Amino acid sequence: MSQPSQQTASLPQLAADAQAEQILAAGIAAATGPVTLACSFSVEDVVLIDILHKVAREVRVFALDTGRLNEETYEVAEALLERYALSIDWYFPERQAVEQLEREKGLFSFRASLDNRHECCRIRKVEPLRRALSGKGGWITGLRRAQSVTRTELASIEVDQANGGLLKINPLLNWSDEQVWDYAKEHRLPVNRLHRQGYPSIGCAPCTRPVREGEHPRAGRWWWENPEHKECGLHR
Ligand code: ADX
Ligand code: SF4
Repeated sequence: MSQPSQQTASLPQLAADAQAEQILAAGIAAATGPVTLACSFSVEDVVLIDILHKVAREVRVFALDTGRLNEETYEVAEALLERYALSIDWYFPERQAVEQLEREKGLFSFRASLDNRHECCRIRKVEPLRRALSGKGGWITGLRRAQSVTRTELASIEVDQANGGLLKINPLLNWSDEQVWDYAKEHRLPVNRLHRQGYPSIGCAPCTRPVREGEHPRAGRWWWENPEHKECGLHR
């Protein structure tokens, strides 16, 4: 299997207040191979699809189907297909790895320990991500600083050493919740129904619950773990 292209271009200079469109344009221009959007069908990713549709329609969209996503998430995917005439590059986990995991450890092994949780995320997300990024020069994500204590140090465009040195482009890095939702409302974007049912952040169904008033937006992700552990390995 080919590895992601090594990034040889230098990082573009960006103004501190660069707009999402400027970050996208600079990242796409600096990447040494094709750039792809990682889509979890969150409101952030739908905003990015809408922006890309206007400024860089050639960028393809991929999604990691872990096999444990909510029905509501698939509904967003269908709505996007219709609205933007998109084609989504779906990636599934390796069949044998999932079969072995479920036969040996059952269907909820991730609740038993942090190691088990990382094992499930590695099989269902990280390995498929590696295939999705193979041969790419950059990937775009919906990461925002405000989402988590684990995301405050990110840059709008960075070299992703953990994935072989391609560019990681985070155009919404400095957006607030309000900005994201204002954009979605103004452009009448299709959003996951779960967002309105108390889910600010949505991952796999068994690892996501709604949050209560005043709780942190990611409190419902792997709710049994400490905040500093709440990453699945996609973003190291
Ligand atoms: S996670 O690492 O905790 O699961 P989060 O749900 O906050 O990530 O999403 C952050 C960004 O990671 C998304 O905006 C998207 O770019 C990418 N991402 C997360 N999950 C997926 C997925 N299943 N498929 C593709 N991209 C994803
Ligand atoms: Fe497995 Fe949960 Fe990680 Fe999804 S979020 S891959 S179900 S541990």
